[in-house]
Amino acid sequence: MSEKPWGGRFAEKTDRTVESFTASIAFDRRLYRYDIQGSIAHCRMLAKQSIISEEDASQIVEGLCRIARDIERGDLELDESLEDIHMNIEARLTAEVGKAAQKLHTARSRNDQVVLDVRMYLRDEVVIILTRLRGLRQTLVELAKKHINVIMPGYTHLQPAQPLLFSHHLMAYYEMFIRDSARFKGALKRINVMPLGSAALAGTTYPIDSEYTAKLLEFPEVSANSLDAVSSRDFVTEFLAAASICMVHLSRLSEELVLWSTAEFGFVEIPDAFATGSSIMPQKKNPDVPELVRGKTGRVFGSLMALLTLMKGLPLSYNRDMQEDKEPLFDTVDTLKGCLEVYEKLLPRLKVNREAMKKAASRGFLNATDMADYLVTKGIGFRDAHHCVGEVVRYAMDQNKELQELSLRDLKKFSQAFEEDIFEILTLEQMVNRRVSPGGTAKENVVKAINEAQEALKLEAVEDESHKRKRKTPK
Ligand code: ARG
Repeated sequence: MSEKPWGGRFAEKTDRTVESFTASIAFDRRLYRYDIQGSIAHCRMLAKQSIISEEDASQIVEGLCRIARDIERGDLELDESLEDIHMNIEARLTAEVGKAAQKLHTARSRNDQVVLDVRMYLRDEVVIILTRLRGLRQTLVELAKKHINVIMPGYTHLQPAQPLLFSHHLMAYYEMFIRDSARFKGALKRINVMPLGSAALAGTTYPIDSEYTAKLLEFPEVSANSLDAVSSRDFVTEFLAAASICMVHLSRLSEELVLWSTAEFGFVEIPDAFATGSSIMPQKKNPDVPELVRGKTGRVFGSLMALLTLMKGLPLSYNRDMQEDKEPLFDTVDTLKGCLEVYEKLLPRLKVNREAMKKAASRGFLNATDMADYLVTKGIGFRDAHHCVGEVVRYAMDQNKELQELSLRDLKKFSQAFEEDIFEILTLEQMVNRRVSPGGTAKENVVKAINEAQEALKLEAVEDESHKRKRKTPK
């Protein structure tokens, strides 16, 4: 059993059960790179401020770099009795460079250290998530462009309502994912704050230079209040909220893919490489990928609830409860990244059954609204027109016909206002293309939305590149 760095005031060794109960090394090991980067920056700052000597500092930095390599190679065994990644690295550093290692923790506490690590980890992950979201949006736009002439039934209450361009439906998801991206970008601003120097809770008596540490670690901002800096995890909660909303969107898309790929709908076919079979029914092809995305939404919501509940009763500042922030966060990052990746790959290969969609849109009186609107243009009030078309629908149902299959003579029985030009109005193409109101499904609108989206995506890609280049500049 190793000696604890905090063992001075303890007369007894920690109980083994307590050691494994309190340890977080099994999961916070994923923070090791950030822990080391943070320590290196902290150490450089201490030396610059003459709080520790240059020799000690360079020994520490060299030691930390070696440790990073060892962990990467799997050469460093992480020890549960050392609780967490911070103390494991510190213990190893002591073994490597001896006395100098003990200076590293000057003007620092694990309380500001851990929150620094999580912030650094999360900002990297959010950048990856933003890139994947961009990829997914790109995929949606390309799919929308490819299928621009496909008409499908649109639904309310899952009852056929009015025809839509399939591309309009896809672009609705584009809009949701644009908002998701904006939410993650907003969260990123609040993640990207440097807390080191807050120490345990009250700040430190050493003459530190937090701005310098922040510069080394590429943080645009230093936390304003030491107590808040070590106490708050709302940047995690905010990320989880954004992730939950994004999962809602992915889950609704999944639900539609599951539905559309049934024999009853037959609107799309999921590529074989993204589907699975049944172990008993040879004919089956199951949409497991969308089902799993839909299912995984639950665990992300669970993580958000976990964080909200975790934090709601905690007095300031740090409490050990807060160690419980990590697993929900890590799980959410992995889950969301996985879902975005799989859809970015699946969607371009989705087989779209244009005929099935058209057929579904052509039956079930989806043109009833257009017939009523037609009567309105002939001077009839909308309520009367609505009632009149209702009667026409009932008549057509009795005749086992669609509205467009009735004759003008039939229609005239319901209103003298009907003329030959009604039949043009009732076609799918007209129904779609006359809906030119802003954001409506008319082809000219959708094409414009697609073009604008493509421009925006190009711009984002350029911004992303220059951002990456900036971050790569040597310190
Ligand atoms: N493993 C701890 C966590 O994840 C690190 C901080 C420990 N601080 C403390 N005062 N015990 O929260």
